[in-house]
Amino acid sequence: MGWFDEPGAWSRYNAGQEQRPPRPLVQVLLEHAGDGAGRPALDLGFGAGVETARLLRRGWRVLAVDADPAAGPSLLRRLPAGDAARLTVRTQDFAALDRLPELHLVHAAWSLPYAGRHLPRVWEVLMAALLPGGWLACDLFGERDTTADADDIAKLTDREVEELLRGVDVVHRETLEVDGTAFTGPQHWHVHSVVARRLPHGD
Ligand SMILES: C[S@@+](CC[C@H](N)C(=O)[O-])C[C@H]1O[C@@H](n2cnc3c(N)ncnc32)[C@H](O)[C@@H]1O
Repeated sequence: MGWFDEPGAWSRYNAGQEQRPPRPLVQVLLEHAGDGAGRPALDLGFGAGVETARLLRRGWRVLAVDADPAAGPSLLRRLPAGDAARLTVRTQDFAALDRLPELHLVHAAWSLPYAGRHLPRVWEVLMAALLPGGWLACDLFGERDTTADADDIAKLTDREVEELLRGVDVVHRETLEVDGTAFTGPQHWHVHSVVARRLPHGD
């Protein structure tokens, strides 16, 4: 059993993330997508909600989805009332994600790999909801990543990554490939980070 498969493990992890600054990827995303002006966005696997708060601050109306039941209440306590009014929290496992409202932006930082074997279907749900011209930012684990902190982790070959990205126009891409140490021991990170724009459906 992976470390994060223990009950409460994600809640403990997320509680330790609240004070960190927003990840650079959300900044790149917002440089492209701009202010939300009330437009609908999704933060999938929002965790401590540091990036969710950033999206809200920039005027997006955010649906935030995570299986961690503590994530929503914890984030709501830290938000200014005006921003909290534009937030909807859904406590849901990625495996149960079936339908989403129309979206102008999807942010999924360090979360899609944990959809595991459900990743292809979750991706379909995301692409069906993301409107043409809408913005996407996400991280995907590559095939040489050795993360083993959950039982079911999606690690994709370069070809599988390209397949997933067929329906979007990639405007920013970084690949992190480096040896390091995770709390579980030696670790090889292989992570693709992408900011992209949804092409018209069918392209
Ligand atoms: C590594 S954290 C990333 C959190 C945040 N997006 C960030 O960038 O820091 C992964 C998040 O995915 C959530 N998660 C993991 N497995 C999940 C699943 N099967 N269904 C829904 N959420 C899940 C965890 O609760 C956690 O908040």
